[in-house]
Amino acid sequence: MPAMPIKRIAISTGGGDAPGLNAVIRAVVLSALSRGWECYGIRDGYNGLLLPEQYVDGGLIRLTRERVRGITHLGGTIIGTTNRNSPLEYPITDKDGNVQYVDRTDELVRRFMLHHIDALITVGGDGSLAIANVLAQKGLRVIGVPKTIDNDLDRTVVTFGFDTAVAFATECLDRLHTTAASHGRVMVVEVMGRYAGWIALHAGVAGSADVILIPEIPYDLHKVVAKIREREERGANFTIIVVAEGARSIGGELVVKEKTPGRAERLGGIGEKIATDLQALTGKETRVVVLGHLLRGGSPTAQDRLIALRFGAAAVRALAEGQSGIMVALDPPNVNYVPLAEVAGRMRAVPLDCDTIMTARDLGICFGD
Ligand code: F6P
Repeated sequence: MPAMPIKRIAISTGGGDAPGLNAVIRAVVLSALSRGWECYGIRDGYNGLLLPEQYVDGGLIRLTRERVRGITHLGGTIIGTTNRNSPLEYPITDKDGNVQYVDRTDELVRRFMLHHIDALITVGGDGSLAIANVLAQKGLRVIGVPKTIDNDLDRTVVTFGFDTAVAFATECLDRLHTTAASHGRVMVVEVMGRYAGWIALHAGVAGSADVILIPEIPYDLHKVVAKIREREERGANFTIIVVAEGARSIGGELVVKEKTPGRAERLGGIGEKIATDLQALTGKETRVVVLGHLLRGGSPTAQDRLIALRFGAAAVRALAEGQSGIMVALDPPNVNYVPLAEVAGRMRAVPLDCDTIMTARDLGICFGD
């Protein structure tokens, strides 16, 4: 039986925000309106549907042409996002304060029907795409759009948000070079990226770091000390080290800031640890800079805007073609569709034989191995 024609769609943004989310929203809304469809934004991931009583507007925002005017260049997301309250493992607190995690996806699908929403475009990272996959299996028409500054999603050449994060981190490295050189210091710069080293690697190479430490290559701190000494012998009295938050030493543990059941663990703190250990081992003054959430803010680069706009428009085209259960993906020069089932729950690490790592090694950059 052919699917019912689409009259009304919704868009949700989930997980950590990334520059380019608003550009996707604008492209989705304009592409939907031009097909005569109505478009609604669900507030804060799925909270707008699961916790409507918390919102004065009922949790759904009507997205008109006027509402999305002038937002392409804005960071963040006008409909809000969250990396809590996954409908797959939704936390329910009983009267004694005990928390239980329940699957609310059936209820969520019913709420889409209640609001006469015929299809969903969901913009997110691995967690959001895993939810999207389950919703699609339960009969909702769903298209996923890959987002994350971490660039760690499988089956797309790149996610939007990554280029902006790398551009900002690179600018920070440029600025840190002059102060590090003036004081003859070691500068340790910690960047986000979760369990993948994409941001550290790309910013580190573009920003002329001397050492790059990534989760994919466990490090030996003595190799880093040797690099600092080698530079000193060549007359460079300073060293710039970029470390991904998920990096760890050979045989060492991840540095975790916070672990809460039902949520992804929060990484962070490896930069401080490395700086303390290096100062003790080398006797050189060492400082640490944690770029953290600064990497998620600001205006998207032209590349991120363009990818985001292309993804948003392609997601609406996919719905118009009758597709569901797929993610739009960059496969240059095109935007393709890949099954959500092939992306959900998978992560893409930096391949050890990629040419960016080879380039870095040719440039003399140390990975601590
Ligand atoms: O996935 C994006 C990301 O920024 C990661 O790089 C980082 O580990 C995490 O989100 C931080 O999450 P939160 O916003 O909860 O601090």
